[in-house]
Amino acid sequence: MAITEDKILDALSNVIDPDLGKDLVTLNMIEDISIDGKNVSFTVNLTTPACPMKAEIERACINAVKHMVDPEAEVTPNMSSKVTQSQATKQEDATSVLRNVKNIIAVASGKGGVGKSTVAVNLAVALHKAGAKVGLVDTDIYGPSIPTMFDIKERPNISTQRKVIPLEKHGIKLMSMGFMVEADQAVVWRGPMVSSAVKQFLGETDWGELDYLIMDLPPGTGDIQLTIVQTVPLTGAIVVSTPQTVALDDARKGVAMFEKVKVPVLGIIENMAYFTPPELPDNKYYIFGQGGARNLAEKLQVPFLGEVPIEQSVREGGDEGLPIVLKDEQSASAVAFRDIAEKSAQQISIRNAGMDPTEKIEILIK
Ligand SMILES: Nc1ncnc2c1ncn2[C@@H]1O[C@H](COP(=O)(O)OP(=O)(O)O)[C@@H](O)[C@H]1O
Ligand SMILES: [Mg+2]
Repeated sequence: MAITEDKILDALSNVIDPDLGKDLVTLNMIEDISIDGKNVSFTVNLTTPACPMKAEIERACINAVKHMVDPEAEVTPNMSSKVTQSQATKQEDATSVLRNVKNIIAVASGKGGVGKSTVAVNLAVALHKAGAKVGLVDTDIYGPSIPTMFDIKERPNISTQRKVIPLEKHGIKLMSMGFMVEADQAVVWRGPMVSSAVKQFLGETDWGELDYLIMDLPPGTGDIQLTIVQTVPLTGAIVVSTPQTVALDDARKGVAMFEKVKVPVLGIIENMAYFTPPELPDNKYYIFGQGGARNLAEKLQVPFLGEVPIEQSVREGGDEGLPIVLKDEQSASAVAFRDIAEKSAQQISIRNAGMDPTEKIEILIK
């Protein structure tokens, strides 16, 4: 019996995307089926290139065709992606620079110094390395860190349409208040000026097409942050904390702030979770306490996205303009950042499919 396109589609309609709870054919993920004797290939368009289930879904596709169509088939799925757009930016009007930005993710923290910028930068780079189009905007007016963390000294140019052209480094489109003011020049703006500056800043930048725009928020949960999260069409927010009780108390306020304005919290990240001395590679010292952010996430019923260890190279990478996911791919923190980027992208896909993350079901064809 010859292999046909219909038989392939029939088989693939048994493969369920475990995050979205529907089969790949219903989700319109399959295209370009080609059959040449026993050789079968097709494209699978996942909802993010950073899909943590990619390998499993690929295996499930191969198994489905072999079991249900022809055991001798040579099956080659081409794993690709089309990132889904959030309702938030779909509603932007056609002239908005954010219209073609599929997802805007705020990275927030209850207090400063917990590694919010470090997380924002490494998430952006990890998503780009996975194959996504990524931008990063630093709205921390009082302590902009993107110029240092990317080692950028130049200023952005203005296009003929009078929009600011973001600078680009390591494949990421970048904008920062720090590009506009001298490093030693203190910014003394008041709250309302800050939020209107941020709005203008986002709206006057020529972002082009982006899958993810990561936004580094100023630390805290005051009026400035509240105004920003209310005026920007956010897909969701990620809250960064360190393990200490004081930081966790502030992280809780961060989650509450987003809930108040109905911005979905995609999850909590614990930074500086533990320390491993180089001479004792199997030991983890939980200097600031253990499991705090995970427990908080559980209590607040938001996803826990992962923990990042304290590593000297993370700090060095930040100071020299080379984020750790580029500087040392094998380091424990780089591995953690990649994993967190995948989990974050997964949460975004789930939200964009209109699902509650708690409805997530795990089924794949055996
Ligand atoms: N996991 C980590 N390991 C080591 N140093 C870190 C880590 N995360 C952040 N840092 C360092 O801590 C300092 C504060 O981090 P930063 O990202 O600027 O925090 P925030 O944006 O929350 O103020 C920076 O010097 C940064 O390099
Ligand atoms: Mg910062």
